[in-house]
Amino acid sequence: MKRPYIYITRKCSEEQLKPLYEVADVDMWKEEEIPCPREVLLEKAEKADGLLTMLSDSIDKELLDKADQLKVIANLAVGFDNIDVQYANSKGIVVCNTPDILTDTTADLTFGLLLSTARRLMEASEYVKQNQWKSWGPLLLAGHDVHHKTIGIVGMGKIGQAVAKRATGFEMEILYHNRSRNENAEKTLGATYRSFDELVTASDFIVCLAPLTPETRELFNKETFQKMKNSSIFINASRGAVVNEEDLYDALVNGEIAGAGLDVFLNEPIGAEHPLVGLHNVVTLPHIGSASYETRYAMMKLCAMNIAAVLNGNEPKTKVVI
Ligand code: DGY
Repeated sequence: MKRPYIYITRKCSEEQLKPLYEVADVDMWKEEEIPCPREVLLEKAEKADGLLTMLSDSIDKELLDKADQLKVIANLAVGFDNIDVQYANSKGIVVCNTPDILTDTTADLTFGLLLSTARRLMEASEYVKQNQWKSWGPLLLAGHDVHHKTIGIVGMGKIGQAVAKRATGFEMEILYHNRSRNENAEKTLGATYRSFDELVTASDFIVCLAPLTPETRELFNKETFQKMKNSSIFINASRGAVVNEEDLYDALVNGEIAGAGLDVFLNEPIGAEHPLVGLHNVVTLPHIGSASYETRYAMMKLCAMNIAAVLNGNEPKTKVVI
């Protein structure tokens, strides 16, 4: 019997993909940092039974209409806004993601980004590396305190709760906004629910972890930034499109907010010429929320196991349900 054909759109660890090699012929784009070109992806998708995709691959109607054999897509991310899940499901294609295993790693990065932005760690490191450190100064590279401040988390899912847990160690007051109340976060972390407007008005740190949906697209815009305290710091570790980047730039330049820490951007990757990169009060990272060796290997393995499960007629561990 013909073995199923799986295409993986980026170089991944073969060791982690063992469950797939056992059941299928596996083909892989061999580059680590150069994405698989669209035309290659379309051509491979035409004959693929399964795809292991990255969040930078657009799995849209055009692709799905060509993919007559396709049974399963495993996205190497918890987010799945790059996939038309509804259309895929209507064609009987199962979509899987990688929740849970990346929660703590992404929360570590998000809280690290918050600390780096508040305490100007990147600037301070550059200052030494550029040989600018000539003497100790009372306000040299002074930043903002994190401990005992108010953190407002927008999107209180698993990663939001893990960030809140870290905030308790800094004795912060925790506010959150979410589609629905999160009783667990209220009970175990002392988090307080606020309307979106109340949260952005009252918080010292506004941390966005909400998934990208029609409701959250450009949720952070001119009007939102105007409501924030002038001393507030905005952190985004969800998706770039939840922010209107021009409005964020204006808010930072006009002193409406004090700083921003960004792991995600509207059009990734961005270059050094991106206006936000040039601002001294912005920390920019290349979308590395879940990027630890342990977690990325676990994500690859989970994707492989999910694809193998579907091909074997079983329920995958982490199927996207919309
Ligand atoms: C995800 O998994 O959706 C994250 O954005 C990766 O860092």
